[in-house]
Amino acid sequence: MAKVVKYGFVGAGSIARYRHLNECAQIKNAKIVAICDIDEKRAKERASEFGGDIYTDWKIMLKEADIDAVIVSTPNNLHAPISIAASKAGKHVLVEKPMATTRTEAKRMIDAAKKAKKYLMVGQNQRLMPPHVRAKEILKSGRVGKVISFRSEFQHPGPEGWSADGSKSWFFKKEDAVMGALGDLGVHKADLMRWLLDDDFVEASAVVSTLVKKIEVDDHGVINLKSKKGIVGTITASWINCGAENNQTVLNCTNGTIEIGTNPDYPVVVTYAKGQGREMHEVGAMASNTNQTGSGIMDMFHDCILKKKAPSIDGHEGYASVATILTAMEAAKQNKTLKIK
Ligand SMILES: NC(=O)c1ccc[n+]([C@@H]2O[C@H](COP(=O)([O-])OP(=O)(O)OC[C@H]3O[C@@H](n4cnc5c(N)ncnc54)[C@H](O)[C@@H]3O)[C@@H](O)[C@H]2O)c1
Repeated sequence: MAKVVKYGFVGAGSIARYRHLNECAQIKNAKIVAICDIDEKRAKERASEFGGDIYTDWKIMLKEADIDAVIVSTPNNLHAPISIAASKAGKHVLVEKPMATTRTEAKRMIDAAKKAKKYLMVGQNQRLMPPHVRAKEILKSGRVGKVISFRSEFQHPGPEGWSADGSKSWFFKKEDAVMGALGDLGVHKADLMRWLLDDDFVEASAVVSTLVKKIEVDDHGVINLKSKKGIVGTITASWINCGAENNQTVLNCTNGTIEIGTNPDYPVVVTYAKGQGREMHEVGAMASNTNQTGSGIMDMFHDCILKKKAPSIDGHEGYASVATILTAMEAAKQNKTLKIK
């Protein structure tokens, strides 16, 4: 019999409920052993649905629960302390995005996992969505040529309708979240674009605002980016969208344009230059807050542990994506273009 991997979950809110626990419950050889939330009622509700012992203190869970790996799905400011402690306790870690709220914390997380010889994976799931996977294949084939510029947008009405605590959510509090729409949605797009372009961003300027909501963090941000290869583009992350969730990316390339998420029937459309025709791709849907298709993140994490192979979405990837967002926020504050470090 294949080895069973035993999991402990810290944070039993919406992402744990709709994705990680739900996806873990469907994996053969995966066992939900412990669920921790400071809200005991919530932990109990999740445990009654998915099994596992209940904890309200993650330090006690790390000490007492017989687990191989920990999934960290808490407010952003707790990602680093919990992940570092879990690594030190000899557990593999899957941490939600943004992996940390400072560069120093992110580096400490990477170091702790390395020292423990355990995996650290970051839940940057946009890379796994079928339309994005198809776009990556098209780019890799070389038929659209090289990317020159892009725009990538991620906009929805905000976490009020998503977070377990609704409009009172930690998502809106500076101390807990540190970043608003940029940390929630912008970091997804920073990661997606780095992966699609197979490149790193080196320069950022941005306008980051709180336009509509009465909250302590940003609800709208537009970032201008330049990559190592010289590709330029914008990322828009926003919580002020009234309509359907907008998760679009357009890549202008030397031999055509790739559009992702602009056509409801064809998630990927390629229009070739000089009237050379179009490709309309019917691929699986993009997961959204209202359309919870499997993210693939838990499967990937489990597979890495089982097969002893390092996750591709590791701490270094998480670092580069969150550093892009932190630099954009600093650039907006200083009204300057800054080098990403
Ligand atoms: N990858 C994605 O697509 C995606 C989507 C949504 C959220 N997220 C990320 O997942 C994380 C959690 O977000 P969410 O949407 O589940 O939020 P949520 O508000 O629904 O849930 C957060 C949970 O953490 C619990 N919590 C707070 N402090 C805790 C502590 N000290 N110990 C244990 N539990 C504690 C809260 O009680 C709450 O149940 C965030 O970092 C967020 O950015 C990722």
